[in-house]
Amino acid sequence: MAVLNIPDENHLLRDCDEVRDYLADIGIVYEYWEPVADLPQDASTEEVLSAYSKQINELKRRGGYVTADVISVNKNTPGLDAMLAKFNIEHRHDEDEVRYILSGRGLFHIHSQQHQRDQVVAIEVEAGDLICIPRNTLHWFDLCGDRKIRAIRLFQDVSGWTPHYTHSAIDRKYEPVCWGPMYIQSQTTTIAED
Ligand SMILES: [Fe+2]
Repeated sequence: MAVLNIPDENHLLRDCDEVRDYLADIGIVYEYWEPVADLPQDASTEEVLSAYSKQINELKRRGGYVTADVISVNKNTPGLDAMLAKFNIEHRHDEDEVRYILSGRGLFHIHSQQHQRDQVVAIEVEAGDLICIPRNTLHWFDLCGDRKIRAIRLFQDVSGWTPHYTHSAIDRKYEPVCWGPMYIQSQTTTIAED
């Protein structure tokens, strides 16, 4: 389940309900949907879309999305760094960014300007996490240390998903730190070696 970090307040939330409620308050939809059991890791795009057709239809109904696809990247994906460089700097889109995570991990930073506050939160997502970043919300995205993620994407209009960059450089002020199992394991190992 997602981990929510509020770096400027040195505050970390791991409870699913707390994460959902905090994000809802700044206009971000977060939900945990139990992954479909028995779907192999190497399932094809068609198999994934078929296995999740009920969930996809529910999202289409809710958000007016018309199409869905599956994005899959890992450290061996050709051009991965160039691809990531398009999305790890602050930008917005003319349509919602909707992701249901199938495997791997990623880190969304949201630059919220809700409630007359200027605030950055980092949401680390993994399998089962659904996130909807509404159109025009400032954000950026990084992969975690294992550099792999597979996710279902939904679109209202694929042409609306072009990133519009702010060139604010705020993304450089926030280290893309993931707090998931790999990070904890790494810290434990360090302590044990001491
Ligand atoms: Fe984006």
